[in-house]
Amino acid sequence: MVKPSKRVESIELSQIRKMFEATNPDAINLGIGEPDFPVPRNIKESMKQAINEDYTHYTPNKGFEDLRLKICEKFQKDNKITTTPDNVIVTSGASEALYDCAQALFEKGDEVLIQDPGFLSYEAIIRLAEANPVPVSTPLEDNFKLKADRVNELITPDTKAIIINSPCNPTGAVIDKKDIKGICELADDHDFMIISDEIYEKIIYGDNKHYSPGAYTDNVITLNGFSKTYAMTGLRIGYLTAPPELTEELLKVHQYNIACASSIAQKGAYEALTGPQNSVKSMVKEFEKRKNLIVKSLNDMGYKTPDCEGAFYAFPRINNPEEFVKTAMDKGVICVLGKAFGPTGEKHVRMSYANSYENIEKAMKILETI
Ligand SMILES: Cc1ncc(COP(=O)(O)O)c(C=O)c1O
Repeated sequence: MVKPSKRVESIELSQIRKMFEATNPDAINLGIGEPDFPVPRNIKESMKQAINEDYTHYTPNKGFEDLRLKICEKFQKDNKITTTPDNVIVTSGASEALYDCAQALFEKGDEVLIQDPGFLSYEAIIRLAEANPVPVSTPLEDNFKLKADRVNELITPDTKAIIINSPCNPTGAVIDKKDIKGICELADDHDFMIISDEIYEKIIYGDNKHYSPGAYTDNVITLNGFSKTYAMTGLRIGYLTAPPELTEELLKVHQYNIACASSIAQKGAYEALTGPQNSVKSMVKEFEKRKNLIVKSLNDMGYKTPDCEGAFYAFPRINNPEEFVKTAMDKGVICVLGKAFGPTGEKHVRMSYANSYENIEKAMKILETI
């Protein structure tokens, strides 16, 4: 039998997916990483119309020009990033944008800093590009926030990039403005790239604010998507903007891999950016209610849980997480071991509140009995 490449053998399938496959379908699932809301009606209608108008062919490789123009306006308005449609690529989800960055930038011997705990895909895309992930610890004691000082300690001549994610999956932490600016200064001084994954940008609570490194340095690729803000996970649509000298290199990976993002999803994305935003506001309001419930309940149970600043995950500290997750699963609640997200997550469990308020209430009653 032909052997798979060493690159692919060096990574594993997602433990989270494996776990879901093995569980009882009636369990309350706090493992989910996608909004439990439907795609807003105006976006659905725009996609139906796109099908009826036969927008079912290849689009320009970088994506429809009018969509890229709206993405530039969004970057300017929300993120203070000035870019042009030529330097935007519409991708098949933020996942593809991340993969394109890794393939276009990294090679053997490169070191890439990642938040620990952090999103599972980062380590995999770095390894698939034969580079080395370097975890930057963001412990509970720092409220899981990435600190520029900790980044500074890990920079070497081989540092090629840092991938940052704020608000963060799995911790819900938002990186402070001073640290975003500090990381930008480090990138400029040591000549490495920042890859800023801003997919949870709009899912943010209270007075917390999201800051984009693209407002402070040119050494950055900013990526985002429609999966979380507009509950469009299955439509697979995202985007990135990069410095002009890198966009064409990223385009090579994109072009030979997927050619272009789905034409229908691009039409939906255009409507998402230009249509009413009230569904986003009401979704975030509902997430905030659930967050308050889950954070209070877990702290009342004695599991230290900082208030989540964004995204839709709580990351309580639990002394024996393996036993906790197993007992919770036996009693009908699914959650994910924190160590899946990096060594600093070892004494934690991730609980998603992308599930109804009623289900979260029920789940908390069950967890109280552990
Ligand atoms: C931090 C982070 N980045 C990227 C993604 C991928 O998003 P997409 O559905 O746009 O590929 C996810 C999905 O869970 C995520 O949590």
